[in-house]
Amino acid sequence: MTAPISARLGDVDAARESGRRKMDWAAQHMPICNALREEFEADQPFAGERIGMAMHVEAKTAILAEILAAGGAEVAITGCNPLSTHDDVSAALDAVDGVTSYAERGVDDEEYYAAIEAVIDHEPTITVDDGMDLVAAIHEDYPELIDTIVGGAEETTTGVHRLRSMDADGELRYPVFAVNDTPMKRLFDNVHGTGESSLASIAMTTNLSWAGKTVVVAGYGHCGKGVAKKASGQNADVVVTEVEPRRALEAHMEGYDVMPMAEAAAEGDVFITTTGNRDVIVEEHFEAMQDGVLLANAGHFDVEIDLDALSDLAVDSYEARDGVQAYELADGRRLNVLAEGRLVNLATPIALGHPVEVMDQSFGIQAVVVRELVENSEARSASDQSSGRGPRDDGEAYAAGVHDVPDRLDKEVAEIKLDAEGVEFDGLTETQAEYMDSWQHGT
Ligand code: NAI
Repeated sequence: MTAPISARLGDVDAARESGRRKMDWAAQHMPICNALREEFEADQPFAGERIGMAMHVEAKTAILAEILAAGGAEVAITGCNPLSTHDDVSAALDAVDGVTSYAERGVDDEEYYAAIEAVIDHEPTITVDDGMDLVAAIHEDYPELIDTIVGGAEETTTGVHRLRSMDADGELRYPVFAVNDTPMKRLFDNVHGTGESSLASIAMTTNLSWAGKTVVVAGYGHCGKGVAKKASGQNADVVVTEVEPRRALEAHMEGYDVMPMAEAAAEGDVFITTTGNRDVIVEEHFEAMQDGVLLANAGHFDVEIDLDALSDLAVDSYEARDGVQAYELADGRRLNVLAEGRLVNLATPIALGHPVEVMDQSFGIQAVVVRELVENSEARSASDQSSGRGPRDDGEAYAAGVHDVPDRLDKEVAEIKLDAEGVEFDGLTETQAEYMDSWQHGT
């Protein structure tokens, strides 16, 4: 059985001190989470709830776990990627009242899933996932817990895709909010967060410049748009690859070169995948690449770059720098893979993940969504689980399935942030509200 991180580290006091310092720094820049912490401390909305979390355990996530515990929850947390945990933060979090952390960096597959099971052993009444691993493990191996689960929240695009597929197959047996899909999350976290942090992580890991490079961005969705924009802002030439015609057109109209990966492979100096899909860069592409290219992935799983094929193709492979594995081909070309093809902004040794302010928004949504689940949980056992989909504010429970986050919650978080920034904004007059709601006004 996996033990909490504190039992596994050497100098646990030093680790806790270092992790706490990172958390305190993050908290200084998280006005939304700080405002919610005050509310939760006063109201104790999560008293009696057990919250299981599988997320990237670094400083900002630790603040989310801490404010949920401050609201009365017992929290058990582990990582959602074998390389993204900061052990010192995990140790500091494990020392917080009401929180047990199992997350550790560099675990193998078996240890990774054992830690997920350790979280499930706490018999969570609420799950908070990034990638859906907790929901999957509970449905597959612990279905007996489902009746007492109030609901869940999902952080990322890939997790929401998986959940929607599960829901379409009629297999999702408790309500889960698609946190990823709210404007307050997706338009900031996926776009700006992934853009800024992926480029920062690649630059810090390699000590190389963007200027004058050709950067190939695979996928022009939310993350891809951010990566392309920030790379262009750093004076790189950007090439976009896409499979969706409107997104390809959007990239073209934005001024980027759009072409198939088969062509882009020979052009790029740096490749960044952001598709959430598999086999985006494969053998035929490696064969066309120039010596010295950098290969990085910002999508959720490590399946976008076919590392098995690259490994087979290579005659030698060695660690060129911390977080950079070089694969040398028979003709002497070296292709450099960052962070083992895992999320480059979170999984290189120096990676810090998204900027703090961005995660304050994402985690603000997570926190209010958990509150929403609890506030509407009363009637769950009695309610008809096949009805009642959609945003509710009537105290009725949410039914099993994927739910959009109610707009009022997204707006609540935006208003807390604007207030903290001292930004005032207009409201509709009564006449304007009436006008906007009416179909009868013409010329
Ligand atoms: P999205 O759905 O907005 O965009 C994905 C794009 O990739 C779509 O336009 C799609 O047409 C395109 N695509 C799919 N297969 C392709 C292929 N073979 N070649 C080229 N393009 C292809 O999704 P979003 O929000 O941009 O997320 C992308 C991935 O990034 C997901 O796995 C998500 O979970 C992850 N993510 C990672 C973050 C990070 O911190 N690194 C933060 C947020 C999301």
